[in-house]
Amino acid sequence: MRKPMIAGNWKMYKTPKESLAFLDAFLPLVEGHTRDEIIICPTMSSLAFVVEASEGTNVRAGAQNMHWLNEGPYTGQTSPTMLVSIGCRHVILGHSEQRLYFNETYERVNLKLKAAINHGITPIVCVGELLAEREDGKTEETLRTQVRAALRNISSSEARRLVIAYEPIWAIGTGSTASPEVAAHAHAIIRNELASCCGEQTAQNTRILYGGSVKPENISELMAQDGIDGALVGGASLVPTTFANIVHY
Ligand code: G3P
Repeated sequence: MRKPMIAGNWKMYKTPKESLAFLDAFLPLVEGHTRDEIIICPTMSSLAFVVEASEGTNVRAGAQNMHWLNEGPYTGQTSPTMLVSIGCRHVILGHSEQRLYFNETYERVNLKLKAAINHGITPIVCVGELLAEREDGKTEETLRTQVRAALRNISSSEARRLVIAYEPIWAIGTGSTASPEVAAHAHAIIRNELASCCGEQTAQNTRILYGGSVKPENISELMAQDGIDGALVGGASLVPTTFANIVHY
């Protein structure tokens, strides 16, 4: 019922030339693969090139962030209409690196989420706890607060396209993945909070991805868990064969 999604977040890696070289190698490796939705989120400078090069394939390109307004005097920002104009229909919102280093807030994520929905863009909203929060027994409270703030005033029909990524901050880029059980427990909390925000139907229809040191070696056991509907992959999405092996879990 929930089609799995495997999304690569390239963060601040790869020039347009390197992005196209990646696609040359990667597209044949996943040709005809329909079990999972495959998304690649390159930097803004590569995005239009990746959209164009993946046209007519089973791979879609997404942005790593966007503003919520259509235009204005906001240096360094890209709007939802601009994404749509180049054929981009996916966006990562609220990534912890945006929150930690660029003061992103869930209030702004909420505005961006609404804008994405209004423009027909699929938002991948990231949530996840710090190591200190986990050690203090605050994981559940943190996840519920983040989900509630991001989904404020979003109706169940608006939430139709929503994707959530559970990315425990202590697992990002550290090589230490959450165990499948720990991840599944967090996904269950998120789904439960989704049900109280937007109704049971939305909770059941929404894909919740896991992100944090996903590799070919651990993807199968993660995907075997009930309630894990895909992955948001950082480092391991940068190498065509490695990412293809993740797609083929
Ligand atoms: O958004 C993906 C992410 O933050 C995980 O990164 O390198 O641990 O797979 P990585």
